[in-house]
Amino acid sequence: MNKQNRRHFLVTASRLGVVGLFTLTGIGCSEDPVSPDYSGVSGTFDIDLADYPALEQEDTSASIGGSQLGRPLIVTHTSSGFHALDSFCTHQGCTVHAGATLDCPCHGSHFSLTGDVTHGPATKDLRSFPITRDGDILTVNFE
Ligand code: FES
Repeated sequence: MNKQNRRHFLVTASRLGVVGLFTLTGIGCSEDPVSPDYSGVSGTFDIDLADYPALEQEDTSASIGGSQLGRPLIVTHTSSGFHALDSFCTHQGCTVHAGATLDCPCHGSHFSLTGDVTHGPATKDLRSFPITRDGDILTVNFE
């Protein structure tokens, strides 16, 4: 390979490498995998059940407070009570969606309504926060 061909090869290869890098970083997840956390939230966060009447029933979930908390908090109601769960997927950080099960749209992890991993690739349960009920008010403690 002469000097000009070698230079052309290196320039082309580096351009393809850059394109490949952009392509690789875009694969697999259409959501922002680096959502902000709840670090800006101090103390407690109140949720009025009147705003989420479906949560009065067991085996339900709702995504709450994304604009106030920085990212959504998942609140579920099961036979063992209410649960407040981080929506940050423990696999690579996409936002887990609330529903009959808690599902991550990026790579297909599923979590139970108590936050336990039921299907990978995630291997860790969702982070949970203490939650209490007083009348119609649920209080989540972020401390
Ligand atoms: S980020 Fe990969 S399954 Fe959720």
